Amino acid sequence: MSDHALRPQSVSSIRGSLLAWYAANRRDLPWRRTSDPYAIWVSEIMLQQTRVAAVIERYRAFLARFPDIVSLAGAPECDILALWSGLGYYRRARMMHKTAQLVAVRGHAGLPASAVELRALPGIGAYTAGAIASIAFGEPVAVVDGNVERVLCRLMGWNAERANTRRKVEDLAAQLVHPQCPGDFNQAVMELGAIICLPRSPRCMECPLRRHCLTRGEHKTGSRPPMQTREIAHALAVRDSIAGPCGEVLLEQRAASQSVMPGLWELPALRNTAVPPGDLRMTVRHSIMHVNYTVHIRSTSKSDVDAITVAAGRRQWISLQEVAQMPLTGLARKVLSRAHLLPVAQR
Ligand code: ADE
Repeated sequence: MSDHALRPQSVSSIRGSLLAWYAANRRDLPWRRTSDPYAIWVSEIMLQQTRVAAVIERYRAFLARFPDIVSLAGAPECDILALWSGLGYYRRARMMHKTAQLVAVRGHAGLPASAVELRALPGIGAYTAGAIASIAFGEPVAVVDGNVERVLCRLMGWNAERANTRRKVEDLAAQLVHPQCPGDFNQAVMELGAIICLPRSPRCMECPLRRHCLTRGEHKTGSRPPMQTREIAHALAVRDSIAGPCGEVLLEQRAASQSVMPGLWELPALRNTAVPPGDLRMTVRHSIMHVNYTVHIRSTSKSDVDAITVAAGRRQWISLQEVAQMPLTGLARKVLSRAHLLPVAQR
């Protein structure tokens, strides 16, 4: 037995307490009402680095438009990115498209059923493979994400920053996972981390594992990297349409070679972040990873826009009827929405 194994009675008591707690307290989330592996895959990819609240509507819209893996495989990439806009980390959407096409080319109707096979597909790492295999297919494999790591480290009184802790956590998760209900067990640990065993103020009095926990409320959470702040500015140029009744907005496409958000459409960047007060349309706050941006938006005319902006990619005037279907950056979607230039349902 390794130094971090639990006694069999503790394992069965922890499993029982967690599953009972989960049955009574789980949040009613749309991906918990299905056993369709495709839908569970979509939810797990969307939930990576993204808050549950931000995912719920995107998940519903995505499944309404792409109800199965075949429809996803056959869709143009820009339609997929358009539905992803606002979720960020667009590589995830591109990888899903690739995986859907691979599965379709192989003539399979769906995703493979084991964690080992899932892990071999683009964009599916150990965590996602384990989550899909356990939740959708009932394979008894453990998953370890940030929440699981925090819960198990606190349970055992381990310091999360020590070099070999991750390995110990993975071994412990594998020992604990319930052989008959691995999907519920894995989700129960994640759920406990999301709503009880919180990073800064854990709610230990409500925790089903408090009897077993060696930390009980001491905050042993690693420090987060400090957020940086940055100020940027973009131009909002709108003109009457030559072709139709609707106006048009000037957008610029990020180069395919960009490491962040390649191929997505955004508002042209201003040369100067100091916007004359009379031209300031709005200021919005936007966070990407560890940077909090303050973004000034300058209203500009068609004739001025070239002089005051930096041309970094292909530009195009896009009809306001079509703009909601474009793969926009989250920031562009936020600004167009606040400027009432997107139909209500698309904001
Ligand atoms: N985080 C990612 N996937 C999750 C799930 N299925 N349940 C709870 N939290 C999650």
